Amino acid sequence: MPADTAATVVAQAALAAGHALLTLSAPAVARLATAGQFAMLRCSDGWDPYLRRPLPFLRLGGETVSFLFSPGDPGLAWLARRRLGDAVSLAGPFGRGFALHPATRRLLLVAAGEPLAPLLAFAGQALDAHISVSLAARATQVAGLASIIPEAVEVASIPAEAEGEPWGTIAALLPWADQVAAAGPADALRHLAHLGRAPRPGLVQCYADAPIACGLGWCGSCLTELRRGSRRACTSGPVFDLTELV
Ligand code: FES
Repeated sequence: MPADTAATVVAQAALAAGHALLTLSAPAVARLATAGQFAMLRCSDGWDPYLRRPLPFLRLGGETVSFLFSPGDPGLAWLARRRLGDAVSLAGPFGRGFALHPATRRLLLVAAGEPLAPLLAFAGQALDAHISVSLAARATQVAGLASIIPEAVEVASIPAEAEGEPWGTIAALLPWADQVAAAGPADALRHLAHLGRAPRPGLVQCYADAPIACGLGWCGSCLTELRRGSRRACTSGPVFDLTELV
């Protein structure tokens, strides 16, 4: 059951490339959340914007949760202006996150688009379990984010000239991994099914970026096409098995 809490800002930073980092003290949410789930954050002192913004967790640990976002709309810009000690209304966790298999030893993270945060949250969980982690991401996507990517993560940057066609780099890394977690738009994630051998269920888990509005399964804005029909990303996802997406 998601918790609704008045969180407090305990860290805040403006990163390169327009990203903002926000860490909130929210013990009730932190206790429940897993990588790949998301929170709904109120983004004003009043009612404009009325809707909370969905943000996937970047870091989870102890009594705090962190978020990485681009303040590209008035609500997120308001959130980026919060300072130490400010209150932020937060509800969560929502959705279905990543699951780390007990036998996993080599985890490949594939940034097939935004958001990067759930992959980094999963990296933290895997590193805590002494699992080797590699991240395939466009060089432009990770530029300026070195401070939030754990040092133990091996980053395979896809150079700018290959960004339009990153699949060769990703295909070369797939045989190394015994589990894969990817994030991006559903159409980009579906490409993964055509790299190398057909994926078996459980091998590749995908965070499908969808327009989440209510976060509660009410509005249908996050409907995502799956093999068995449309499902709400906010309640049935946002993490789906790749074999469900294709
Ligand atoms: S965001 Fe409203 S149903 Fe998913």
